[in-house]
Amino acid sequence: MQELDPWKDIDTDGYLFANAPMGQTWGNLHWLSLILCNNYTGRKSCLEIGTWHGAFSTFLGLIFPNATITADIRDQRSEHTKWLHHLLGVKFEQADCHKVDELRALVNKVVRPAFFFCDGGNKPKEFLLLAPMLQESDIIGVHDVGTEFNCADKKIAECIDMYQLIAIPMYEDEEGKLSYGVTETRSMYWMKK
Ligand SMILES: C[S@@+](CC[C@H](N)C(=O)[O-])C[C@H]1O[C@@H](n2cnc3c(N)ncnc32)[C@H](O)[C@@H]1O
Repeated sequence: MQELDPWKDIDTDGYLFANAPMGQTWGNLHWLSLILCNNYTGRKSCLEIGTWHGAFSTFLGLIFPNATITADIRDQRSEHTKWLHHLLGVKFEQADCHKVDELRALVNKVVRPAFFFCDGGNKPKEFLLLAPMLQESDIIGVHDVGTEFNCADKKIAECIDMYQLIAIPMYEDEEGKLSYGVTETRSMYWMKK
């Protein structure tokens, strides 16, 4: 097995999970776990767009063993991560998720209701392509909200409205108001009505 040097690819705000660099904050792991527990409607599987080193896919594989698909335009996983994915039944698919036919082929492989996570090279595009493919009770999440993804963008706002995507609140702030926890997670989640 190849020797691991996970730090070589870590940038300043990087996180490691299961020996691989991960694009998510610790907060996102916590809030996503809570969201999936609180909104458990027999959710069966998930599709992650944008594997990168596969650390978040490992995390998803722990929640959805034998039912996680992760897709990327290229495979950047270490031998260690491939081995973990094998153990957890995480399936890697090489695909261009910005091509509607390739994305649809992946979506057709997941068992519904499912969890979808947009974290490839163009999150708004992935969200706009995925939204029409969602079915009742599916959950869709997007990473880098506020930087790469703007909920107030006209196309995004219209899409949320048209496909009846209901934002899932994460917690109450000090004033008792529900919040979407974006500062901590840099992600947001919606359920298809
Ligand atoms: C931010 S990283 C993903 C991070 C990962 N989800 C995590 O949490 O650790 C983005 C990934 O999207 C991939 N990507 C870029 N364009 C893509 C495309 N058209 N289809 C699929 N994946 C793409 C890149 O190769 C890169 O690995």
